[in-house]
Amino acid sequence: MPKSSLFFRNARQVLTLSGRGFPRRGRDLAELGIVRAGGVLTRGEKILRVGPSHTLEREALRLKAREIDCRGQVLMPGFVDCHTHLVFAGNRVQDFEARVQGKSYLEIARVGGGIQYTASLTRQASEPELVAQAEALLRQFSAHGTTALEVKSGYGLDVRTELKILRVIRRLGRRSRLDLAPTLLAAHALPPGFKRRRSAYIARVVRELIPQAAGQNLAQFVDCYLDRDAFTVAECRAVLAAGRRHGLTPRVHAEQLSRTGGIQLAVELGAASADHLDFANAADIRRLAGSNVVAVLLPGSNFFLGSSQLPPARRLIDAGAAVALATDFNPGTSPVLNMQFVLSLATTQLRMTPAEAVCATTLNAAHALRRADQVGSLEPGKLADLILMDVCDYREIPYFFASNHCAMTVKRGRVIHSRKSP
Ligand code: NIG
Ligand code: FE
Repeated sequence: MPKSSLFFRNARQVLTLSGRGFPRRGRDLAELGIVRAGGVLTRGEKILRVGPSHTLEREALRLKAREIDCRGQVLMPGFVDCHTHLVFAGNRVQDFEARVQGKSYLEIARVGGGIQYTASLTRQASEPELVAQAEALLRQFSAHGTTALEVKSGYGLDVRTELKILRVIRRLGRRSRLDLAPTLLAAHALPPGFKRRRSAYIARVVRELIPQAAGQNLAQFVDCYLDRDAFTVAECRAVLAAGRRHGLTPRVHAEQLSRTGGIQLAVELGAASADHLDFANAADIRRLAGSNVVAVLLPGSNFFLGSSQLPPARRLIDAGAAVALATDFNPGTSPVLNMQFVLSLATTQLRMTPAEAVCATTLNAAHALRRADQVGSLEPGKLADLILMDVCDYREIPYFFASNHCAMTVKRGRVIHSRKSP
């Protein structure tokens, strides 16, 4: 079958983010590689050419490409959401209301709310139920411009349910047009009954769960929640090192609610990312800047928890760390799937510039998932994952906050969402 082509023409700005094959650091983070009066030509699943619209016309004609007039809007790479907890049952509106009334996240977790509550619902849910809930959410992700995302397990907390969640992620990946990167996050919270035998749970994760998940090819990454009320450095090291032995790349929830050494561990193990970083100190910032670990900031969780302690985005960027942004989509601390709102939070709360925030949600996020050879920028040979934003200038995306500017989402060269019929 001949490969079909799309010709996007007449975009006021095409944000290409083209360039070197490394994550962007320092000043390079704001280099968007903007082409004015630009266009993109796709062929099959991939991008064939990017440039001023008029330079692509002849080839578009030759390929009989279907033409899409961008009418002066902004064309950019689809968002890569490199940190989500997409698969869970139910929600946590009761925790939300209790927090609004003054209880803290940890207080609620200690009396049976929090992760344990979601885990108990998720254990009871069937695979089709979990697929259905997550699939509806995935449609919303794509309608807001996300074209690839990481998805963690972590609401099972036993071998059977963690594997069930990973199978759900695999099924979602096969049914959805979006690309999903699966992560095993069994060390998310200590399951009930293990308080006095913590090492028994870790041993089960290391000896049973990781070999099975890796053996069935159900995960690409292994993650852990290193914090005062979660797991220790030694426990996380054991889990991540076991994952690595089985071919899973580590990533770490680090310094979210307290400073406990997650960044140091991430650097020691050559993790793909260290995420949250609210309590990172000067030494941590230096460590990250001197490493290839991507610093993933999650301002949705800061916003939702009303935290006064924000991740040191400016200091990380200025020190030369590779910074990315993600939603942290989850029922407890960040029920947001709109990456455009993450851009607004990153600019207004973390003082990142709009350009830095765009790069952190596309190219650098792709690096955090080790998929920058395929996604994150508009360059010939990469996947044709792009979004058309109903704005005249990319800075309007974070500026007009809390709305959806995404007029069209294209995944692997196919229109998967369009406000008007395509
Ligand atoms: O990334 N930090 C731990 N995990 C999630 C919260 C999960 C939950 O509360 O359900 C996070 O913020
Ligand atoms: Fe998280």
